[in-house]
Formats: sequence, C-alpha cells, structure tokens
Amino acid sequence: MRAHPEDVPLTDAPAATPAATEAILLVGGKGTRLRPLTVHTPKPMVPAAGVPFLTHQLARARAAGIEHIVLATSYLAEVFEPHFGDGSALGLHLEYVTETDPLGTGGALRNVAHRLRSAPGDPVLVFNGDILTGLDIRALVATHRRTRADISLHLTKVPDPRAFGLVPTDDSGRVTAFLEKPQTPEEIVTDQINAGAYVFTRSVIDEIPAGRPVSVERETFPDLLAAGAHLQGMVDSTYWLDLGTPQAFVRGSADLVLGRAPSPAVPGRCGERLVLPGADVAEDAKLSGGTSVAAGAVVGSGARIDGSAILPGAWIEAGAVVKNSLVGAGARVGSRTVLDGVVVGDGAHIGPDNELLDGVRVWCGARIEQGAIRFSSDA
Ligand code: GTP
Repeated sequence: MRAHPEDVPLTDAPAATPAATEAILLVGGKGTRLRPLTVHTPKPMVPAAGVPFLTHQLARARAAGIEHIVLATSYLAEVFEPHFGDGSALGLHLEYVTETDPLGTGGALRNVAHRLRSAPGDPVLVFNGDILTGLDIRALVATHRRTRADISLHLTKVPDPRAFGLVPTDDSGRVTAFLEKPQTPEEIVTDQINAGAYVFTRSVIDEIPAGRPVSVERETFPDLLAAGAHLQGMVDSTYWLDLGTPQAFVRGSADLVLGRAPSPAVPGRCGERLVLPGADVAEDAKLSGGTSVAAGAVVGSGARIDGSAILPGAWIEAGAVVKNSLVGAGARVGSRTVLDGVVVGDGAHIGPDNELLDGVRVWCGARIEQGAIRFSSDA
C-alpha cells in the first residue's frame, strides 16, 4: 500500500545493522487493573526487580540499537522526566509528550508524531509500557523491512487466549483479521495474540486521526486491514508477560531477578534474591524465588519472603511470611503475619498475626489490627 524508500533491503538486515533508531513508548494508561499499586505511581514506574519497570524496557530498546525514544505520557505524567531526564544515563535521548486528556493508544502515537525524526518510509518501534518480553526486536524490524509491511506486530501464543486480542495470520505471516476477546470455541480460531510491540512505517503514524481518542487495537489495525494495508505478524514465543495485573507484576519482577526474563537493567546479579544497597535484611531472614528488597526496606529476624517485591521503605517484621506478594513503599507487615498472593498498597500497616491470601489488595494507607484477619483452620 505505502511505498518504502528504494534503499530498503529486501532481505533481513544483518545482525550488525541497527534495528531502527527510534521508538515510541506508550506509558499514559491509568493502570486500573493494577490498583492500588498505581494510585500514586503510573504502572511503568512501579519498581520491578528494584528499578522502575520502564527501565527494563528502555535498556532492552537501547541494546537493540534504539537511540531516540518518545514517551507518550498522560496519567501521572509529571513523574517520568524527573526520574529519567534526557535519558543520557541509559545512553538514550528521551523526549516526553503529555496528553491533557488521554488519547488512547493510537491517539497517543499521533500526538507524538511531530517529535519523530524518521523519514516517511522508515520503521518506528512502538511498545506498550507494561509488557515484559524477550522479543528479538531486531528480528521484528527485519521482518518489517523484508515484507515491506505497513505495520508489523509481535505475536505470541498463549494457552487460553480469551482475555486477549486474537491475530490470525496466513501462511506468509500476513494478518488476516483482528478478533477482540473471543469467548466461544468457534471464535477462538488461533492461539496467536497481539503481544503489544509493533513496528510502524512512520507515514502510517502520521495518518492516524489527530486530536481525538483512537485505539490502535480497536480502530487503527482493523480499519487499515479493511482498507487493504499490509499488516504482518511475527510470532516470537520467547518470554512474554503482560504486567497489567498485580499477580502478573509480582511474577514479572521475580522472573527478572531470577534471570528468566531478560533485562540488562537488573541492578545486580540474577539469582534467588536481589537486595538493593540501603536495604536492611536480618541475617537469619530467608529470601528466595526472585525476591527483591528495595533501598530503605527492613526485613526482620526469621522472616521468610518468597517470589515477592518489597518496595522502598517497607518493613517486614520478625517472623512474617510473605509469598508471591508485593509490599508497597513505606508499608508495614507485622510479626508472624502471613501474606500469599497479596498486594499491600503504599503506607498500609498490617498488624501482627494476620493471614491474607489469594488476590487480596490492601489499599494505600489502610490499617489492619493485630489478628484481625485469619483464614487458616487453627485461627
Ligand atoms: P488498565 O487500566 O489496567 O487496563 O491499564 P492501562 O491503562 O495501562 O491500559 P492498557 O493496558 O490497555 O494499555 C496498554 C498500553 O497503552 C499501556 O502501556 C498504557 O500505559 C498505554 N496507554 C493506554 N491508554 C493510553 C492513553 O490514553 N495515552 C497514552 N499515552 N498511553 C496509553
């Protein structure tokens, strides 16, 4: 449909060729599924493996040859720039564009188009700000160049695709349809889903309608397909996790610490535990399963923490047991209290001798008295 410049190679770019030089990161969503973690902090800034999650995405993009990244911000937009500045600490040039009213995923892309430096036929990477993946970014760009697509999408395969947008493709990988959240067996025509990373030919971004909310998933992709555009899928089945829910976020953080999810930005050696400088962990406390303990956090004597993220300034008192959970900044977990699959909001205090399980979310600043909640049979 749209012509690429004549000098675009027809075959995959050699490994040494930069994948592309610029990217847009979509980081403006409200992150409602991740509350209360996102009450004070936008989802991409919630720490995973000791650093704001976005750091991992930026570092992976840099490692793939990206130099210029535009962050499309909206919700709690003011916190990004003070942390990342001009990006030079990561070897990047970062720019920030804020939507006064959220413009959706497509509207956000159009809204930052004036900051792109690419020529109309050049590839521009686009990432959702909540995806943890080992995607071969260079391979996605190479696929885009080789097939001369208008948009190329990273697709991944999941056992249960009902919560996702399905993307069936033909034998050549060309997208044949976009099917949102299928429910009946007849609707589940493929196990390939939209994995939230794309390469757009720059001119396609310029053609998204300006000044109104647009969803790439619900509007741009289906409309372009109907108009005969070339949308190419590339299945890459390496590590992939959508960190949109608390349990997925906790899992992703632990996988980064364990080294199962690749990132050049994990601040330390990968292993069972990651204790950041400035954390205070008792010698007989047991940390395992990819647990991270942030600066200023305290872990008391005999505490056991498995597969969890303890954010800055949190306090896990003696003998507490914390499993597959996230404890927010400045929160406190009392002695002998057991948490399993729980999210504790910033500044919440859970008194001693409580037991909270399976998906419980304790709101920011909440207070739970000693022994107020127990589920075990000996309670
Ligand atoms: P939920 O509210 O829990 O669904 O999360 P979310 O708001 O992040 O929405 P979703 O997971 O669907 O968003 C996918 C990606 O697009 C995320 O990286 C969001 O930050 C981003 N995003 C969603 N809506 C907007 C928007 O209106 N503007 C910008 N700039 N980014 C957005």
